Parts: sequence; structure tokens; C-alpha cells
Amino acid sequence: MHTITVIPGDGIGPSIVDAARRVIDATCVSIAWEEMPAGLSGIEQYKDPLPESTIASVRKNKTALKGPLTTQLGSGFRSVNVALRKEFDLYINLRPAKSFPNVPSRYSDIDLVMFRENIEEFYSGIEHYIDAQKSAAETIGIVTRFGSERIVRAAFEYARLNGRKKVTIVHKANIMKYTGGLFLDVAHEVAAQFPEIICQDVIVDNMAMQLVLNPHQYDVIVTTNLFGDILSDLCSGLVGGLGLAPGANIGATAAIFEAVHGSAPDIAGKNIANPCAIILAGAMMLRHIGEPAAAAKIYRAIEETLREGTQVTRDINPASTVGTSEFADVLIAHMQAGA
Ligand code: NAI
Repeated sequence: MHTITVIPGDGIGPSIVDAARRVIDATCVSIAWEEMPAGLSGIEQYKDPLPESTIASVRKNKTALKGPLTTQLGSGFRSVNVALRKEFDLYINLRPAKSFPNVPSRYSDIDLVMFRENIEEFYSGIEHYIDAQKSAAETIGIVTRFGSERIVRAAFEYARLNGRKKVTIVHKANIMKYTGGLFLDVAHEVAAQFPEIICQDVIVDNMAMQLVLNPHQYDVIVTTNLFGDILSDLCSGLVGGLGLAPGANIGATAAIFEAVHGSAPDIAGKNIANPCAIILAGAMMLRHIGEPAAAAKIYRAIEETLREGTQVTRDINPASTVGTSEFADVLIAHMQAGA
């Protein structure tokens, strides 16, 4: 029996997380879900977007499945997502982008894995206006040798473990000579310890163009926080959009699995959100807790359902009337038929 913290989240969160829970439970892996509030539900219940009880639950269970959380722009609460990553030192943001059959997209056969540094640089929250008139503002992005070393090592170790051939280091060391330069230097030092894996480095602006022109030339990608955030959304666009992009935040003592997309307030409450991304994140979670067969079952059901192409949400097939919860039913039926 695994005990896992589940955070339904905001907007479309509760409906897609419910779909994911039902699909994961249908694999017959025994999970006791500990449902905890965060985001708007945390504010409602505890006047705190990240209640202590939620932090305690993740600390105890070490694994969480999390729905998206709304972050107010500008003033207001700081991002709960960023706070969770810092609280548990979840320094790896692992975002695979893999093509599925019959999903409208510009490319097929894409299989990229992005390793984004998840704690440092411009997400540290060290920022302020320089004066009372708000005439200028400053954000400080700190890159450390320690932080760079461990994310690059994670990317190379993943490549080695999963038979991947190449790791691409993405940076902007030509302009940010200190932060970018440190990351690049450390990355090459780590790469030298993995001689069987091809290592290349690419400047981020060129990388954005190359990914659009010819994504097949890449395999594993490792980069700093902001570039990773932007490029991983770009990668999800290459395989059919945010509805299919899962992510994992991994540290030494805890891991939180989620969709790459946000709370999608524009479609919340309509039962039309695609739950695939969070279900795929659930499959990543199952592998992480040592249940690879259950993960493969979910993956196969998603692949078959997308290949058939009729019983999918409308972001994939605009003619479809299948909603979030019905999509979960279809996946469960596939898994039961294949069992
Ligand atoms: P978003 O990812 O929520 O939505 C972008 C567009 O994609 C919208 O048109 C939305 O309808 C569509 N979309 C997203 N997920 C979808 C799904 N599963 N099925 C079908 N369509 C989907 O990004 P946005 O609007 O910039 O952010 C909304 C809120 O989410 C913000 O408060 C933001 O801070 C937060 N956010 C939270 C994240 C997290 O919790 N990890 C990640 C990204 C954003």
C-alpha cells in the first residue's frame, strides 16, 4: 500500500485530478490518497495557499500528485508551485515531450526529455522595486555551482539509465557571462564523466529556432530555470499542446507530479479539459514508486485511445463530445479490456 498526497488544485484541477485518481486506481495498485488543500482551497480553509498540514502530508508521504494552482499576476500571493519546489528542494523539473498517434501536431515521432533546474536563478523570488515610485524593478537570478552540477548530473544519469544517446546543454553564456558561464562550465565538467553520451551546447535563442525547425535532432535537454520553463512549453506544442504534457518535480526526499499546464480558468467547470497530462504525470509517479507495470498499462490505454481518435477531448478532436470524466471512463475500459 502506497500513501500519496493528492492536491486537487484550482480551476480545472479538481476535475482532471479526479480523472487521474480513478485511472490510477483502476491499475489495481493499492494507493491510500491523502487529499490536501492548496491554492484557493487552502485560502478558503486556512487563509493560507500552502497550509502547514499540506506541507506535513507531502513530507510524510514523500510523493504527491498535484493539480494546477492559480498564481495571481503581480501582487498577491507568491506562487505556491515555486514555494513547494523550494520547501522540498525539488531541484529537478523533468518534462518529457513525446508524440502520440493521431494527435494533430506538426511532427510525429518526437521523444524529447527536458531537465529544467527548478530552484535557482530568476525563480528565487529575490526581487523588488528600487524606489517608492516604482520607477524600476530588479530581479536577482543566482546560479550556483552546486545547483548546476546536480541538475546536469541528473540529466546525464537519466540518459545513461535510459539508453539515451545525447544531452544538449542550453544556455546564454555569451551574454550572461557569469551565471550562464558558470552553468555551461559546470555542465561540461559533468559531461566529461559520461564519455559514452554525446554532449553539445546550444545558445537558447538558437535552440528555440532549432526545436521548431528540426526537433528530431535532440534527445535529452538540460537547462536553467527560466529557459527550461519556456522551452518545455515549446516542446509540448511540438507534440500537440499542453493537454498532453506531464511533469515531475523531483528532489532527494520528495517528488511532486503534475501537468505542465496551468489551472485553465477559461475552461474550468465545463468538463472539457483534457486530463491526459496529469494522467501521464500519474504514470510517471507510478514508475517513481516502483510500479512500472501499472504505469505501462496507463500509457498503453492512452496510446490506444488516442490512436482510435474518437473518444478524446475536444482539444484533440473538435468534433468529439467526450468530456474530462468520460475520457477517464474510456481509459479505464481500455485497461480492463486489456487486463
Ligand atoms: P494554462 O496552462 O492554464 O492555459 C493555457 C491555455 O491552454 C488555455 O487556453 C487553456 O484553456 C488551455 N489548456 C490548459 N490545460 C488544458 C487542458 N488540460 N485541456 C485543454 N486545454 C487546456 O495557462 P495560463 O492561462 O497562463 O495560466 C492559468 C493559471 O495557471 C495562472 O494562474 C498560472 O499561474 C497557473 N499555472 C499553474 C501551473 C501549475 O500549477 N503547475 C503551471 C502553469 C500555470
